Amino acid sequence: MGPLSHRPNCLLSLRPILRLHLLPFLSSSSSTASWGGLHWERQIGSSATPRRNSGLSVLVTGAAGFVGSHCSLALHKRGDGVVGLDNFNPYYDPSLKKARSALLSSHSIFVIDGDINDANLLSKLFDLVPFSHVLHLAAQAGVRYAIENPSSYVHSNIAGLVSLLEAVKSADPQPAVVWASSSSVYGLNDKVPFSESDQTDSPASLYAATKKAGEEITHTYNHIYGLSITGLRFFTVYGPWGRPDMAYFSFTKAILAGKPITIYHGRDRVDLARDFTYIDDIVRGCLASLDTAGKSTGSGGKKRGPAPYRIFNLGNTSPVTVPTLVSILERYLKAKAKKNVVEMPGNGDVPFTHANITLAMEELGYKPTTNLETGLKKFVKWYLAYYRNPPRQIKTHFG
Ligand SMILES: NC(=O)c1ccc[n+]([C@@H]2O[C@H](COP(=O)([O-])OP(=O)(O)OC[C@H]3O[C@@H](n4cnc5c(N)ncnc54)[C@H](O)[C@@H]3O)[C@@H](O)[C@H]2O)c1
Repeated sequence: MGPLSHRPNCLLSLRPILRLHLLPFLSSSSSTASWGGLHWERQIGSSATPRRNSGLSVLVTGAAGFVGSHCSLALHKRGDGVVGLDNFNPYYDPSLKKARSALLSSHSIFVIDGDINDANLLSKLFDLVPFSHVLHLAAQAGVRYAIENPSSYVHSNIAGLVSLLEAVKSADPQPAVVWASSSSVYGLNDKVPFSESDQTDSPASLYAATKKAGEEITHTYNHIYGLSITGLRFFTVYGPWGRPDMAYFSFTKAILAGKPITIYHGRDRVDLARDFTYIDDIVRGCLASLDTAGKSTGSGGKKRGPAPYRIFNLGNTSPVTVPTLVSILERYLKAKAKKNVVEMPGNGDVPFTHANITLAMEELGYKPTTNLETGLKKFVKWYLAYYRNPPRQIKTHFG
């Protein structure tokens, strides 16, 4: 339990800005946890405070991740307060997560090294800061890794989600929650394009099943506790500072090293296709979701009225085949790929994804503007700069 857990209740009624500035002086800095202490609280207070009138104060989970780091920076740039939380797990190279976090830190965004399953940490955070929103992006991502490490999906995507929602439900004020589901919930559906109203009861992977469960779990918290919930089904997000486990990233690495890449094809030798969505478009969709999220209605863990429950596809509406992706990369990398084309194994991948984004266009004003050619050009530029120079010397920025 953190040092502020027994502070007088009267503090809860203080205006937000006072709460942020007074609390550090009222707390003791004695904490045995890797988080806590006066300095830590001050950093959180300053990072969480908006720098514009009516700015948001957002807790971003998964802030050292690909999407989380971009969203954190975009929020900060427009004057919102941002506190990040990430457990820096080694699913992929943690040094990339550290480099993203260092970049956020250089913009005065504080990222806590902690796990969403740490109930004490979460309760402490919501005691310290009257967050208006939670942008929940922390998750065990990736489809194929579930075969190797299924419990990591349960830990982050099920147990971690419930732990976070429990803390949000008890927070005063109750923040609105915007969180990342996934296009993978469409599973084995073959009606295209995928619409939010389509059935999502045939997942092809444990990852998809945990995201689908997340949609149902968040619905329960909306129904019982009045939490405002927006679930975003992202379609294959790519771009600078991306995820090394994703095909466009690992292909780039292999092509540059002269190593073979494995390209899967579906039944009847049909090429796999993805609705690749550029990171800046996804960031705009996330920020628009935060801006339009209605308020949570509960207080003291009790629902006071109905709250919004929304789900949106955030995709690009124009699927591209994997061989086309490879040929674009070959052009920008000025190198030929050594292709090993094999039939897709039954490990959780689906043959294609294709988003219908009408709902997001109507309600969020979402409009993707970057095609794969343009987006990959930016990715390759970042990749070459990042891996040819030690991270600390890179004078690059997101976007
Ligand atoms: N990138 C995509 O194409 C894509 C597509 C669909 C959905 N999503 C979802 O979007 C979100 C962000 O994805 P991303 O591509 O940025 O992935 P990412 O792996 O780069 O980011 C997730 C971050 O969450 C952190 N994390 C994981 N478990 C945690 C825990 N228990 N406690 C604290 N931190 C934890 C990780 O360390 C990581 O930095 C995820 O929920 C993912 O499932 C991504």
